[in-house]
Amino acid sequence: MQSILILNGPNLNLLGTRQPEVYGRETLAMVEQLCIDHAVKAGLTAHCLQSNHEGALLDAIHAARGVHAGIILNAGAFTHTSVALMDAIFSVEVPTVEVHLSNIHAREEFRHKSYISRAALGQICGFGSQGYLMAIDALAATLLPKETQLQDAR
Ligand code: DQA
Repeated sequence: MQSILILNGPNLNLLGTRQPEVYGRETLAMVEQLCIDHAVKAGLTAHCLQSNHEGALLDAIHAARGVHAGIILNAGAFTHTSVALMDAIFSVEVPTVEVHLSNIHAREEFRHKSYISRAALGQICGFGSQGYLMAIDALAATLLPKETQLQDAR
């Protein structure tokens, strides 16, 4: 089974208590478990990692090359600032889907810009934790032969 990396950036360890009106009441552990379960149904194995440190996120993206078939990345606030994360995604050439819990385009102007988007296959935002599951389906559709995908199994 191909594996994917679910990578979460700064402050996402605080999910559940952090501005629940914006980010929901599920904890990161709950979201990660949803991802692990959904990935299995989609024919993939999910590995989850969270860090508040840009360098650790860079290291995780570098280490994904040759190990993970795809990445789902919520880079948190680094989305709007990090040329380094964008360059890392371009460098490793691992298909990456960008996810945000909130609709960043409906929020403050500074959140409208994403460096990640330039390097990602696509962006899913505004659907809360469901967005991660949509991203898993998007990666499965890209990575797996059609007959093994979730929609054919239903
Ligand atoms: C976020 C949106 C970012 O603007 C913010 O800095 C986050 C979370 C989201 O998931 O909606 O930390 O990436």
